[in-house]
Amino acid sequence: MTATVPTTSNQSYIDHVNPQWVRLLNLLQMETEYTVCSGAELHSTTNGTILDFLSGYCVHNTGHNHPAIIEALHAELDRRGPVMLQSHVPDLAGDLAKRLLRLAGGKLEKAFFACSGSEGVEAAMKFSRATTGREGFLYCDGAFHGLTCGALSLMSDPFWRGKFGPMLANTTAVPFGNLDALHEKLKSRTYAAFVVEPLQSEGGIVVPPANYLKEARELCAKYGTLFVLDEVQTGMFRTGHFLAAQHFDVEPDMVILAKALSGGLAPVSAVLMTDKIYHSVYDSLKRSIVHTSTFGENSLSMRAGLATLDVLVKESLGPRALAMGDLLRSRLRQELAGYEMVQDVRGLGMLSGIAFAPPKQLRLRLAFESFRHIHPAMFGQVIVMRMFRDQRVLMQMCGNNFMVLKVAPPLVVKSEQIEKFVSGIRDVIHLMHHSTDFWGEALGLARRAMNV
Ligand SMILES: Cc1ncc(COP(=O)(O)O)c(C=O)c1O
Repeated sequence: MTATVPTTSNQSYIDHVNPQWVRLLNLLQMETEYTVCSGAELHSTTNGTILDFLSGYCVHNTGHNHPAIIEALHAELDRRGPVMLQSHVPDLAGDLAKRLLRLAGGKLEKAFFACSGSEGVEAAMKFSRATTGREGFLYCDGAFHGLTCGALSLMSDPFWRGKFGPMLANTTAVPFGNLDALHEKLKSRTYAAFVVEPLQSEGGIVVPPANYLKEARELCAKYGTLFVLDEVQTGMFRTGHFLAAQHFDVEPDMVILAKALSGGLAPVSAVLMTDKIYHSVYDSLKRSIVHTSTFGENSLSMRAGLATLDVLVKESLGPRALAMGDLLRSRLRQELAGYEMVQDVRGLGMLSGIAFAPPKQLRLRLAFESFRHIHPAMFGQVIVMRMFRDQRVLMQMCGNNFMVLKVAPPLVVKSEQIEKFVSGIRDVIHLMHHSTDFWGEALGLARRAMNV
């Protein structure tokens, strides 16, 4: 039998996977042939070395292809042990669960493993219903929880929902950070869970008021609704602590982790929960496999998870995220002060955002408005494109807030790489304020994208 050789051409992808995605990358001049990726650097044949300030949406906390995680994966393959027998006790899953629960602290005592953030959210939704006997869910405007039908029912943005409805019944959005609105809804005692990100990532790097999560948690307890934290992006030391919840001194009933949990090298997610929740689902021998996932406890993901935790702890990447995140935001604030379209620089640990505002100067305002009229997302995409093409930094706008540029490098990013990014974004923002080229190119791009 011959092994499948990876093709150097992307034609098969265009023919058989997602040609629209390739069109979009080409339009943004971001299609490139990557070779080796390491730390915060992506090497490519066509664009040289590119700095990664996206981290695959917070997957690469430990940096790309960390040698210790790769070595652990090699060792796991060499072991040739039992994999996915679906009839044995996967010991590594126990080891990983123990370590995650210890880091999470509080009353969380059991873990369920799956393969993606959305699958973790789905599990948390089912477990919430089993525990409370209630049907409904509360979530926040601007949230991103995943694109499977249940998780999508916890996201109000019509862009993601369009054509896929109807969503689950009895799912209700409340404004993020608003305790009164949450309180009002909880009073009906019909909601199984309030599912919330401790700080909204795709919503625009929105850090809640200091007391919000703690008080929300208390309100949930009062009305018998579970308090479920989606830490898919914010967990695994991204914001400096293992969980972002630990900044706010709040103990959830369930936490969903994914993305960075396996060093960006294997699909995985984990739902950490209290014993009470576990027992409400798996309450008898008959129900011991009532909620499972074929690949959930696979040994490669579990081994990668253990190695990732080793790296995060040994390299003190949490304290590093705190220090480097503060440095990043203070340098951005210094360099971007005075540019009228920069509204805010905000974040926590190594998860930051640059929020843009429409310009006030008439000259810029006219260009901005005609551009926004063509497509609201395109303004941000021009920044992303210029950062990539001119500055060689990979970034993206927040998925549910096109006016906020997400800044999320791997936690191993070096201070000189931060400086390179800061001077790059300053140059692009300078151009935006002072060059007609920026707006000319932007309008051309938007028109091509919309075929108008
Ligand atoms: C906060 C949050 N929750 C859940 C998800 C869904 O994760 P996945 O894409 O692995 O299903 C995402 C994905 O970006 C996310 O950002």
